[in-house]
Order: sequence, then structure tokens, then C-alpha cells
Amino acid sequence: MKIWQLTEQIGPEGLKSVEVPSPAPRAGEVLIRVRANSLNFRDLMIAAGQYGPPPALPLIPLSDGAGEIAAIGEGVTKWKPGDRVAGTFFQNWQSGPCKSDAYLSALGGALPGMLAEYTVLSENGVVAIPSHMTFEEAATLPCAALTAWQALSAHGAVSPDQTVLVLGTGGVSMFGLQIAKLHGARVIATSGSDEKLALARALGADETINYRSIPAWDEEVQRLTDGSGADHVIEVGGHDTFPKSLRSLAMNGRISVIGGVSGFSSDLQLRDILAKNARIRGIFVGSRDMFVAMNRAFSRHALRPAVSRVFPFSDAPEAFRHLQSGAHFGKVVIAGAE
Ligand SMILES: NC(=O)c1ccc[n+]([C@@H]2O[C@H](COP(=O)([O-])OP(=O)(O)OC[C@H]3O[C@@H](n4cnc5c(N)ncnc54)[C@H](OP(=O)(O)O)[C@@H]3O)[C@@H](O)[C@H]2O)c1
Repeated sequence: MKIWQLTEQIGPEGLKSVEVPSPAPRAGEVLIRVRANSLNFRDLMIAAGQYGPPPALPLIPLSDGAGEIAAIGEGVTKWKPGDRVAGTFFQNWQSGPCKSDAYLSALGGALPGMLAEYTVLSENGVVAIPSHMTFEEAATLPCAALTAWQALSAHGAVSPDQTVLVLGTGGVSMFGLQIAKLHGARVIATSGSDEKLALARALGADETINYRSIPAWDEEVQRLTDGSGADHVIEVGGHDTFPKSLRSLAMNGRISVIGGVSGFSSDLQLRDILAKNARIRGIFVGSRDMFVAMNRAFSRHALRPAVSRVFPFSDAPEAFRHLQSGAHFGKVVIAGAE
């Protein structure tokens, strides 16, 4: 079978295409024919050697993939050949609170990832995908969508009387927009591009702000909310955005600390946190139970993920470069091997 391997952590140039024997499922495992993958900012960081402890190389990259069960191992009861599934980001976080060793079971990091023609996972490490979604759409769910879902729904208690602020128009933020709208909330979206803001409005954003032409976007959020501020910020910007996210916040508001596309350090003012009675919570993707609940909601609302572009399997490094360029809106997808 065809796989991509990260052989050196030097960016997309470190990816090599190789042929290896197809794996076989052992007891309790399923063999998945992968039909599509999606990329996350994390995959760029891992490829460049900027994410946590170095993984064992060569590494099959990517946490995200969807496909169909091709074969089942002995004793598997949850699945049958032909079932449409996606892998879970954390293979060992089934339910309840996140455990300290969850990251040791993350696909495309501590464990081999999904950028392969076939992969073998535990029968507990996959979920059924929504039947209305294509494989390309469902491949966007395991990391970005679930992170936004944990932030807003599983822990955020987002509701129709709230305003949610999403930063930039990448994968997590566009799912944040869609999930907030699904719960009836008002959404303010920011971007450095007017074209992308038009796409965000088409996806449901109520108000948009270009953070390049309006650098004081925190003041604009306060203006758009008549001075009350955003109730929940999906914070993916990090260094450049966190202090302004705090100043955009309503009294008793929440900030979900998710990412740091501009860096993970911060010189925030602690007094802004206490003066706002702010609730600040780190979010680490989500559990299998949360993934199942999210898929139920997405099915009920026939939600369609924002797929920016689909690259052929043979052009995987080009897909990485596309994400790196920041030209995308929503998710970048790689089709399954032919
Ligand atoms: N905690 C978790 O479990 C978890 C899960 C997923 C992702 N993350 C993290 O969340 C972040 C976003 O991930 P992603 O996969 O959604 O990334 P992505 O798809 O690459 O999106 C990043 C977007 O951020 C916007 N951006 C860039 N610089 C910005 C700035 N200075 N101010 C405001 N916006 C800026 C850009 O949008 P525009 O072009 O529209 O401006 C860009 O497209 C990353 O740091 C990632 O590591 C964490």
C-alpha cells in the first residue's frame, strides 16, 4: 500500500512517498481503507519539529482521516466491513475528563497517523461518520471540529443569548462559527482577508472584522456588542491576539485557549482576567464520547464542513504547503490513495 512518511522534521520537504505491505487487524482491531485525510496546523508544526517531544521517525503523519472498514479482527463486535468511520484523535480518551497520558495516544504524533492507503486502529478508536457527509467532509472532523465542539458545546454551554467571537478563518474557527450558529448564538468572525470574511458571512457569521484594517478589533467587538463584549472567545491566535481577546470579553465571559498561530507566549495583564470575572479554560481536542455526540448533532442539522481545497494523495506535500501559505478558508483535505 501507499503511505506518506515524515522522514525528517524539516517541513513538507521531509515527507516521502513509500510502498509498504498492508497491515492486518489483530484481535480487537479494524482495518480501515482511508478515503480522505485533513490537515491541521499541528501537522505543520510536527513536520517542522515545533510540536512537543520529537516523534519516532519515520512517522506516518496526520491525526485526521475517514474511510470504510475493510476487515475486522477477532472479537470485534462494534463494526463490520463497509461501515463508514473516522479515527479518533486520542486513541485512549474514550470518555470523562482528559487524562495526563492522552497525548501518548494521539494519531500522527506519538502514534502513526492516517496518511496511508490502509490503517489499523482499535475498534474503540473509531467513530461512525455522519451519513450525509462525503469522506472528504468527514475527514475534517477528528481534530478541528471536535476541539470547537468541546470548547463551545461539551464545556462551553453556548446558548442563543450569547455572542461568540472566532479568530481567523482556519479549521477550528470555522467549525466554531458553525457550532455556535447551530446552538443559536450570534457570531463575530475576524480575518486578515475581506474575501474570507465574505465566505464567513456566507457560512453564517453575523458580523465580521478585518484585523488588518481594524487593528483595534477588540474595541470593534465592544462596539458591535453595545459595550457588553463577547461571551465566549475561541482563542487560536495566541501571542498576538490573547490580550485583545481578553479586552473583547464580556463580564463573566469565557475564553477557550486552543492555539497559538502567532506564538504560545503571552504578556497578558492578570488584572484584565479578574476584572472581567473571566473563565479561561484550555481545550485539548476531545474524547470519543464527545465525537459521537458532535456527529449526532451534525447529522441532525445536516452540517457541511467548510472544505477549502482537496489535493490528490500524490500531492500531499503540496497540501501542507497550501495550509502553510494561509490561503485556505476552513479545512485543507487530501483525497485517499487511488
Ligand atoms: N488545543 C487543541 O486541541 C487544538 C486543536 C486544533 C488546533 N489547535 C491549534 O489552534 C490553532 C488553529 O489551528 P487550525 O488547524 O484551525 O489552523 P489553521 O486552519 O491553519 O488556521 C489558522 C488561521 O489563523 C488566522 N491567523 C493567522 N495569524 C493570525 C493572527 N495574527 N491573528 C488572528 N488570526 C490569525 C488565519 O486566518 P485568516 O487568514 O482568516 O486571517 C489562519 O488561516 C493552531 O495553533 C493549532 O495548533 C489546537
